[in-house]
Amino acid sequence: MEHERVVIRRGVRSGAVIIIAIHSTARGPALGGCRIARYPDWRDGLEDALRLSAAMTAKCAAAGLAHGGGKTVVVGERGAGVLHDVGDLVEELGGAYATGPDVGTGPDDMEEIATRTTHVFCRPSASGDSSPATAAGVLAALRVIGGTSFAVMGLGHVGARVAGRLLDAGHRVVVSDVDESKRALFPAAEWVAPERILEADVDVLVPAALGGILTPSSVPRLRCRAVAGPANNQLDRPETAELLRARGIVWAPDHVVSAGGVIYATEVELHGSAPAAAMARVEAIGDTLRRLLDRD
Ligand code: PHE
Repeated sequence: MEHERVVIRRGVRSGAVIIIAIHSTARGPALGGCRIARYPDWRDGLEDALRLSAAMTAKCAAAGLAHGGGKTVVVGERGAGVLHDVGDLVEELGGAYATGPDVGTGPDDMEEIATRTTHVFCRPSASGDSSPATAAGVLAALRVIGGTSFAVMGLGHVGARVAGRLLDAGHRVVVSDVDESKRALFPAAEWVAPERILEADVDVLVPAALGGILTPSSVPRLRCRAVAGPANNQLDRPETAELLRARGIVWAPDHVVSAGGVIYATEVELHGSAPAAAMARVEAIGDTLRRLLDRD
């Protein structure tokens, strides 16, 4: 394990298994959202926390933030009292880690966590919902990648915004979600079943759901010329990037593309930036990606 600290605790109120992984504080306090999700076993949740917190270290570093990476994973349902349990555990870490929203949590939940600790971002009374900023960062990245047709995989807070903006811009957009009811959200888009979206014949695939979708078996099925999206940990393992390269598919690293939320929240809450100035910092994700892809 390359992590600095991992805490696993059963919540006294909720009975839920709560895991906080601090990957690194070398650049500053660890930062990373609180995910509430079901896993086959709590050990799978631990595995996820380890991988996601490491990704946050890369994300904060690539964004030039004085923060390291961490992550909270709550295994299972959001039982009563679980957010207070999370808040207590965050507080125990004494500022080495601050939390924020993630899959399964939102700004109102951060307010609840904030009743137990000050180490929390994105309360509605602070910087609020980070998904518009995350989506703006994704769009900045997509402008660098280029293209006129896009397949958005996952219509959550970020994916739905990105799909909407791409449609508004007049692009051809293919969408999918595990929740069929989302189909009605975008009548102007082409809907495909989740298992088909990887094969969509588009310029760019935009992963905006859970991680691990780029694997030795999925990469040969891709028909896009680039992959760029906000889902964390898109590669099942680092070597899969080579398979993409061999097929001539450009991959924009997710830790660069998905940094809009943390950039925005830290700009507003720690540096006192106005929302517009913080959004301008988010747009710089495009410059970072351009440098990385050598497209200067
Ligand atoms: N879920 C966010 C991410 O993966 C975490 C986050 C957002 C943390 C905003 C703090 C503020 O980047």
